[in-house]
Amino acid sequence: MKALITVATKHGSTLELGRAMAEVLRQRGIETTLLPPERVGSLDAYDVVVLGSGIYSNKMLPTMTAFGYRWGDQLTARLVYIFCSGPLDAAPAALANLPHDVRLLARQIGARSTKLLAGCMEPGQLRPTERALMRMSGARPGDYRDWESALGWARQIAADALEHAV
Ligand SMILES: Cc1cc2nc3c(=O)[nH]c(=O)nc-3n(C[C@H](O)[C@H](O)[C@H](O)COP(=O)(O)O)c2cc1C
Repeated sequence: MKALITVATKHGSTLELGRAMAEVLRQRGIETTLLPPERVGSLDAYDVVVLGSGIYSNKMLPTMTAFGYRWGDQLTARLVYIFCSGPLDAAPAALANLPHDVRLLARQIGARSTKLLAGCMEPGQLRPTERALMRMSGARPGDYRDWESALGWARQIAADALEHAV
């Protein structure tokens, strides 16, 4: 079985989550490739596709939106899963609602599971405009990523994919 994990990221923290998930899939015997969405040239080789994106202004990054439009038809024919990382807050209430566009894409492509994970933003990485936006929103920078939650979700999708492979 072959999987593609494709991650849209601005500052790299969602990609690190994707890398850790790829290791989980590999440990389960699933041959896994990690590529940015804009570098995917074909889905032919893959039975499983995991989409990941950082969240900005309550939306996926544009490269992931474009990926969804470009490959939508082919994604519906595969085992597909979507995660995003955003909230700079680990409280369950902050992680309860996926952004609207992610929910829409998940429905359109028949994603088997979705996951909203807490994000990471180190102040030193921010551009001045981003820093100003963060100050206005009241968000507190820091690394809120819950690795156990991310790895647990990856274990679930590996089990689901192996069970439902055609
Ligand atoms: C300018 C800016 C806007 C953001 N907007 C949101 C948002 O609307 N919703 C959210 O959950 N997280 C938001 N975040 C937090 C990011 O989604 C989080 O830091 C994420 O982990 C970044 O992923 P990346 O490192 O892969 O780019 C924002 C961060 C910045 C810097």
